[in-house]
Amino acid sequence: MSKPDRIKAPRGTFDVLGEQSAARAILEDRARTILEGAGYERIETPAFEATELFARGVGESTDIVRKEMYTFADASGRSLTLRPEGTAPVCRAYVEHGMHKQRQPVRLWYLSSFFRHERAQAGRYRQFSQLGAEALGAEDPAVDAESICLLAALLDELSVASVRLRLSSLGSLAARQEYRERLQAHLRAHSEHLSAEVRERIELNPLRAFDSEHPGTRAALQTAPRLLDFLSAEDAEHFAEVRARLDAAGVAYAIDPTLVRGLDYYTRTVFEFTSDRLGAQSGVGGGGRYDGLVEQLGGPPTPGIGWAAGIERILLAGAPPHPAPAPVDLFVAYEPARDDGREPARRHAPAEAFALLSEARTAGLTAQMELAGRSLKGQLGYANALDARYVAILGAGETVLKDMLGASQETVASDAVVHAVLRGLRSL
Ligand code: HAM
Repeated sequence: MSKPDRIKAPRGTFDVLGEQSAARAILEDRARTILEGAGYERIETPAFEATELFARGVGESTDIVRKEMYTFADASGRSLTLRPEGTAPVCRAYVEHGMHKQRQPVRLWYLSSFFRHERAQAGRYRQFSQLGAEALGAEDPAVDAESICLLAALLDELSVASVRLRLSSLGSLAARQEYRERLQAHLRAHSEHLSAEVRERIELNPLRAFDSEHPGTRAALQTAPRLLDFLSAEDAEHFAEVRARLDAAGVAYAIDPTLVRGLDYYTRTVFEFTSDRLGAQSGVGGGGRYDGLVEQLGGPPTPGIGWAAGIERILLAGAPPHPAPAPVDLFVAYEPARDDGREPARRHAPAEAFALLSEARTAGLTAQMELAGRSLKGQLGYANALDARYVAILGAGETVLKDMLGASQETVASDAVVHAVLRGLRSL
């Protein structure tokens, strides 16, 4: 029979191993401390949702909905989609669980996997993790500022290098509609200078032209009308209040009137944190206000604001937290059976070792035992590599207990090993 082919992980996905996994756990821990300290509660939503949620919530004209969703029909023919983002699901849950009846704002955070069929490259994956925070039910500019400050604090805490904050306001949907028409007129007038992609999107999504790197498009946009000039008096006031609070909190930002985000639900405040460390995929995290989204999903009129940050990008741009190895209080070693066909020195040793391991764990110790058939010398070397504090070497009726820190050893009765280790640890 021929050897089966090796199966690889799909393109744009990756395995999280060893230290990376430990670094993520630390990141999650810091995020929990910061967000729950600020009144956010964790939420977990399903990995897949009705396709309609994203079509309606994220927007039919966005790249995400048009090109990047993993959509499939289930056995009953229902169209489902692996979540490409977390805001629409959180708003769906807010409506579904009647959270508008709770005290507002309702503040929720998540750390989950998301899926987008994008061109995979460093920092851009098809399955990735986002840490996100959403505050629903308050339009006070302080909520915008608080949301931004929390992400700034988190990136700082995780030592993400060379972080910059870009900030803008998209105004209300009505102001944006008027602006959209003016921008479309401008783009049509300069259409011969635009990239084919931007030209094709003039009708569908003209604001995305601001994301283009194409030189002709960029030149044409130099003279384009600016959305910030179209804000209503209330929107301009709201934006000024957000900026005043960020100034008061000492958070540095740059106003960027070309900042448009790739999702349709935004209104008023939008922001993005970038890091120079990331190359092409410089966005570490971003978000904004989405005052119409809950209503669009069938709920009551509800303002909302939030952000999401990519875990992989945070770890790429940061000094990954150095996980301390889990301590091993006790390693249980024993003389292995000889493989020369003769009666092993102590045939029952593996079972005795297992019993001691269980006893130690029940007593609350962190313990490991030999599992790979090493020689006794090999076992001691392994215990040393694990940085085990004590090693028990099982013998007939009694056990040698080595204190690896004190470099001493004593002989103890087999049933007194755990007690001796506990006593030793306590005396530290
Ligand atoms: P987004 O800008 O699409 O916003 O994604 C937020 C962050 O997720 C990005 O800044 C980036 O760090 C990370 N990210 C996005 N796509 C990928 C990918 N393919 N590979 C790796 N990382 C990626 C949203 O998703 C909005 N839901 C944010 C939000 C929350 N707005 C309001 N509330």
